[in-house]
Amino acid sequence: MNRAKGKEIGLNTIEVVGTKIDTRHYIGGQRVESAEAFTNTSPIDGSFLGDICRGTQKEADLAVAAAKAAFPAWAALGPKGRGVLLLRLAELVEENIETLAQLETMDNGSLLRSHRRGVMPRVAMNIRFFAEWAINELQHPDFETRGHTNKISWDPSGVAVLITPWNAPLMLATWKIGPALAAGDTVILKPAEWTPLSASFFADLTKQAGIPDGVFNVVQGFGKEIGAALVAHPDIARISFTGSVPTAKVIARSAADNLTPVSFELGGKSPCVVLEDADIDLAVELAVEQYDNAGQVCLSGTRILVHENIADAFALKFKEKALQIIQGDPRDEATQIGPQIHQVHFDRVKGFVDRAKESGANIIMGGEPNSDLCGLYFRPTLVMNPDPTSEIVTSEVFGPVLCLQTFKTDEEAIAMANSTEFGLAAILVSGNKERAERVAKQLVAGTIWVNCFFVRDLRAPFGGSKKSGIGREGGNWSFDFYADVKNTVVSPNGWKE
Ligand code: NAI
Ligand code: MG
Repeated sequence: MNRAKGKEIGLNTIEVVGTKIDTRHYIGGQRVESAEAFTNTSPIDGSFLGDICRGTQKEADLAVAAAKAAFPAWAALGPKGRGVLLLRLAELVEENIETLAQLETMDNGSLLRSHRRGVMPRVAMNIRFFAEWAINELQHPDFETRGHTNKISWDPSGVAVLITPWNAPLMLATWKIGPALAAGDTVILKPAEWTPLSASFFADLTKQAGIPDGVFNVVQGFGKEIGAALVAHPDIARISFTGSVPTAKVIARSAADNLTPVSFELGGKSPCVVLEDADIDLAVELAVEQYDNAGQVCLSGTRILVHENIADAFALKFKEKALQIIQGDPRDEATQIGPQIHQVHFDRVKGFVDRAKESGANIIMGGEPNSDLCGLYFRPTLVMNPDPTSEIVTSEVFGPVLCLQTFKTDEEAIAMANSTEFGLAAILVSGNKERAERVAKQLVAGTIWVNCFFVRDLRAPFGGSKKSGIGREGGNWSFDFYADVKNTVVSPNGWKE
C-alpha cells in the first residue's frame, strides 16, 4: 500500500495528495488560528495527515459574530443575487472534483471511484439544486380570506449552525449548506473532527466564487468543545445536525435554552424486508449493497428480514456474493469496501461483534478484522438469527455487520421491521405490487425503497421517523426549516391611491 501521507508545509498549511489545505478555521473570510490543535489521520493506513486547529468558545463567538454581521446583506441579495454566486460555487466544485475526491478518500477512507463519479458531482448538485429551487420553485399561490390576500414567503432567518458527521463529510454538509445559503441564511459549518479536510478546501472555493466574507464559515474542533459552544449560542437562528442519537439529545438540551429550531438526521437500524414472492437475486443484490462504505451509512438496511421459506436459498446466495466483496485500499479501482473511519470506531464495531459472539450468536460470515490487511479493515459480517432483543439487532453498529432474521407472515415482518426505536428507512423486496404497497404503507420510516435502494431525489422529503430524526429536508421542506415562513395578510381596505 502507498502510504497515505500528509505533509506539514509551513505553520498553517498541510499538503495532502498534492493539495494545500489550510488547517485553520475560516471565519469572516479570514483564516483564524487557535492556540491548540488536534491530529488528523487517514483511515487507509493510520498515517498522519496533519494537525488541525482546535476551536473553543472563543472561535465559536467569532464565527457567530461574523455570520451575524454578514447576514443582512446576504439576505437582501434575494434568491437571484445569491443564486449567481451559488451557481458559480457549484461550477467550482465541478472543476475540483478530482481534488475533492482524493482529499475525502484520504480523510475518511470511502471509495475514491465513488467520490469521483457519484459523491462529488452530487456535492455540486446539492448547491445548484437549492439555488435554482429558491429562484424557480419556492412559491405559494396567494389566496383570499374575505377579500384579504394571503401572501406566503420564505424569509431568511439568520445564522445557521451546521454540524456534520464523518461518513460522507462534504456530501452531508452540502445537503445543509445548499438550502441554508439559498434561503438567505449565513452559515457556520463544524465538520466532524475525524474528517476536517474537505470543508477547509470548500471554504477556499466559496471565497473564489465570490461569496461575501462571513456568509460561509468553517470552524474545526471537537463536538464537546466548539460544537457545544456553537449550539448553545443565543445569536443563532437554526441548528441542523446529522449524527448520533446521544449527541442529538445533548444538542437538543442546549437548543432548548434559546428555543433554537433544530433539524436532526440521526441514525438508523433499517430493515431490508424480503417477502416470499421476492425476486431472490434482486433481494440478494440489495442486501449485499448494505455493506457499502464499510457499513458506515445511516440509511443502511442492516436487519435483513427474510421469509422463512426462502431463507436458506437467500442465505446461500447472499454468502456466495458477499464473500466475493473485495476489501482493501479505497483508492484502488477494484476495491468495494474500505476501512472503518478511526481506531475508536473500529473498536466500537468490533466490540458489538465480540459481545454477540460471547453471547453465542451464530456468525456465519466474517466476524473479525481482515487479517490480510491489518489496520481498520473489518470483514463483512453476517449474524444469523440473533436474539431479537440483543444489541446487535437493536443498536446502530455503523459497520459492515448485518443480521439475518426470518418471519412467517407479512404481519410478523411488519412488526419486526418496526420493532426498533429508529425509523430512518426501509427496503422492501416483493414480486407483487399490491402486496408491496400494503406492506410499505405499514412500515414506519422516512423513506421506503421498494425493490431498490438509495434512489434519492432532492425534490423529495428526506428524514427520519421516531428516534431517527426531527424534520425533513429536500425541496420546500428544506426551506420550511432554514427560512422563516411568513404570511402577509393584505386587507382590501385603507388604501389611499
Ligand atoms: P456524533 O453524533 O458524536 O458526531 C457527529 C458530529 O457531532 C461531529 O461533528 C461531532 O463533532 C459533533 N458533536 C459531538 N458532540 C457534540 C456536542 N455536544 N455539541 C455539538 N456537536 C457535537 O457521532 P460519532 O461519535 O462520530 O459516531 C458515533 C455513532 O453515531 C456512530 O457509530 C453511528 O452509530 C452514529 N452516526 C450516525 C451518523 C448518521 O449519518 N446518522 C453519522 C455519524 C455517526
Ligand atoms: Mg481523517
